[in-house]
Amino acid sequence: MDMKRNFLLLASFLFLGTLAWGQEAKTLIGQDPARAANNLHAYEFHPVADTPAPAGFAPVYISHYGRHGSRHDISSSTCDRTLALLSKADSLGQLTAAGKALLEDVRIMAQEHVGMGGELSWRGGREHDQLAARMAERFPAVFVPGKEVNAIASTVQRSIVSMAYFMASLRARFPESVISMTTGERYTPVTRLSGSSGNRTTSPVGDAGPGSGGNRQGGPQGGPQAGQGGPQGRQGGPQGGPGGGPQGGRQGGPQGGRSQQGAPAGDFSAFYATIFVNPAQVRDKEDILTGTFKVGSICEDLDFLGVDIYKNYFTVDELYLLWAKENDSLYSRWGNSVESGYAYGQTARPLVDDMIDKADAALAGDKVAADLRFGHDQPYMALCDLLGIDADGGERFRAEEAHDHWYAFDIVPTAANVQLVFYRDATGEVLVKVLRNEKEVALKGLQAVSGPYYRWADFKEKFGRKKTWSIEFDPENFIAMKQTIQTASGPVEVVYKAYMHIPYVTRPLDTDYQSLCIFEPVFIGGKSVDASDAPILFSNRVGGYMPVDDSRTTDVGGRSGGDREALALAAGFVVVVPGCRGRTVQDADDNYIGKAPAVLVDLKAAVRYLRHNKGKVPGDTDRMISVGCSAGGAVSAALGASGNSPLFEPYLKEIGAADERDDFFATGVFSPIMDLQHGDMAYEWEFGEVPLTRTGELVDQTLSAALRKEFAAYEKSLKLGGINGYGRLTADNLGEYIARYWLNPAATLYLQGLSETERTAYLADKAWLKWDGTATHMTMEDYNRNYSGRYKALPAFDTFDLHEAENGLFGNTTTDAGHFTGFSLRQTSGDPSATLDPALQKVIDMMNPFTYISNKGCAKHWWIRHGTTESGISRAAMVNFSTALMNKGKDVNSKLFWDAMHCVDKDPQGFVDWMQEVCK
Ligand code: DHB
Repeated sequence: MDMKRNFLLLASFLFLGTLAWGQEAKTLIGQDPARAANNLHAYEFHPVADTPAPAGFAPVYISHYGRHGSRHDISSSTCDRTLALLSKADSLGQLTAAGKALLEDVRIMAQEHVGMGGELSWRGGREHDQLAARMAERFPAVFVPGKEVNAIASTVQRSIVSMAYFMASLRARFPESVISMTTGERYTPVTRLSGSSGNRTTSPVGDAGPGSGGNRQGGPQGGPQAGQGGPQGRQGGPQGGPGGGPQGGRQGGPQGGRSQQGAPAGDFSAFYATIFVNPAQVRDKEDILTGTFKVGSICEDLDFLGVDIYKNYFTVDELYLLWAKENDSLYSRWGNSVESGYAYGQTARPLVDDMIDKADAALAGDKVAADLRFGHDQPYMALCDLLGIDADGGERFRAEEAHDHWYAFDIVPTAANVQLVFYRDATGEVLVKVLRNEKEVALKGLQAVSGPYYRWADFKEKFGRKKTWSIEFDPENFIAMKQTIQTASGPVEVVYKAYMHIPYVTRPLDTDYQSLCIFEPVFIGGKSVDASDAPILFSNRVGGYMPVDDSRTTDVGGRSGGDREALALAAGFVVVVPGCRGRTVQDADDNYIGKAPAVLVDLKAAVRYLRHNKGKVPGDTDRMISVGCSAGGAVSAALGASGNSPLFEPYLKEIGAADERDDFFATGVFSPIMDLQHGDMAYEWEFGEVPLTRTGELVDQTLSAALRKEFAAYEKSLKLGGINGYGRLTADNLGEYIARYWLNPAATLYLQGLSETERTAYLADKAWLKWDGTATHMTMEDYNRNYSGRYKALPAFDTFDLHEAENGLFGNTTTDAGHFTGFSLRQTSGDPSATLDPALQKVIDMMNPFTYISNKGCAKHWWIRHGTTESGISRAAMVNFSTALMNKGKDVNSKLFWDAMHCVDKDPQGFVDWMQEVCK
């Protein structure tokens, strides 16, 4: 890897950033205050010069997506509301002469909006007229007489009228072109992108803008993963459980997916002093400030009115502050922000597919000069994101820093557009160049033939629908990120390379899931580090056996231990965050494609991808540590134990995984929901006689006893020798064993960490802990009766009505959920001799880490943690598993965290220290 070159790149990304036109936003707003209107700023054209095309190439075809031109505010309510507030202030004698003038200006604006909310303005028409004129002048050779120019628009007035202006302008210049124009819901997937991609609903997108209340739902934040994580019916349960989803709740971005109301922090005294006689007496002044700013954003669009609120009532400093807040909000919602991840850009898939299909048809048939589409800002921004041309150089920023790098008035003004201009030579070779707002842009990750000219074939390979994907790692394809990480020794700033959203198999069923992100530290606390040989933390974010959509991974963090990932990065580890299929994923035909063992298959494929690219990917692929919590903890355990298991071979072949090892060096397992087929019996063994916390009632004791009996047989069959010469474990002594080696040490450690006063207070109502001054001596019964409570009903996992996450895991292609224990199958079928289908049994066993306990590729080092305050699964599973590993001579560090809920990691630094120790 050419590290030097990457450092240079990194330095330029980080410290120079991408300044539009090379200038600061405030200067640009000072030069033209109308720029503060963000995406309602009227289109600016600055003369451009075309880089000469390679010799022999001439333009033959144009593909265009354009946002409608300048418009009225989406509804008249912004003007009306501000008018009402100012009128009230006026009636109270609070307005200065300038304030009264503002009131009149706002009245004019409000009157113009009557019956015109959201509609195109005259200026918007002119913008499209001139865009077409420039296209005609710049690429006349494309418009061969007799060739077609085809246009579609969204069904919204402002798009349709924009199209009409554009086409009238072209027709005037090329009267012999054959033009067509249409609109209709049929074209919505291309013009507005509403609808769905695969089985996921994408954002219905209209036009963004200050004051545009509608059309905002969805977007990257409200999307598929938010809140869909857990087994149903459990959200907010006592475990703090699986609800909220693997990544849900993290994707919100700083703006939480909505334009923030209220004024930004800052000094607006000049505005207030201009408008109000005595600002201190005006209760609504902040609303008047923000309302006036919003009304002001429309003035330029309705320039025929001659109202200029920005210039007449605000200082540049005030405009800058108000601009920056909305700019960053727009960027977080629809830009290529770090917070949006790659999901938002994916919503432009149908548009890019349309561009590719129509271009290929036009190039083959030679009958079409141009295909034009007229729509809105959000699809335009998604398109820019997908093509990597949103910020110059494809750079991604955190939303809070957008105002230093990404200017909505430059990127997404009214009539913003992307044009693909195609060139062909005598041999038929086709090149394409991309214009954003008529300026040539570079395509990141594509090798240009020269200047901005790219091979069409390469473009399609990168952006088109694919049947097969390359699994060769591209070390240049990263973005630079910076994060302040809180460590035990204080905050540490880590600059890292983020290799985002890389498909890891050649025949992915869905690249949103079957892709991974790699985070490589480059500077830690200001010091440069070389992580090319660092251990790799492979952190799965699986929760509830749900899929992990990699296009939504934004940085280190996430459900399964943001602390662990971030601390590992700060300690110099490479962190890999893989996506993977899960129980709810369906293909276009509604078949389930993520049922067991898909999660393990995918994650193994991701591991193989890393090994396949050994020496090219950062990190040491021989020292990989798997980690996850809950379902992800079970998955981590299965991955750690099943290294190189031949059972997965056919599944891996099918999706085109690399032919490599998939074993791990070490494994971290947190709150594992594992050994599912014995989960119900173990649960009854531990909680059978504990009343359900929810109802205070005992579960059916006959069924519970039957399951307990099964557990006794199962425990015996494990033939485990307890640690420290404890002897053979049985259902009868397991409680004593767990209390001795797990519960009491956890409680003791906890109490030792308290001050005398805290300890006395803690112990005041917990005599059952039997604290002797140095250690506790509770029994398992003490613990069950007084502390843990019973969370799940009977059966805990393989529910009779198939509603639990685990039932969903063991569905199949056409059935959403199924049984995975003979016990529940027999109960529900009424057939006392019913047994599970052997093929299903094989899959159930594949998901179970115990299956691989003697496997040669089983990891050597294990860190296993579980909380005492959780009763989502019996502790028997993690204790048995830990003991089994120890019986096999593995290095096992297995503990409970006292007073810890589900997935709570009370010692993330301990885990990182342990990884460092075992990796030495
Ligand atoms: C998870 C939690 C559960 O209680 C369960 O049964 C399955 C998964 C989870 O949090 O991932």
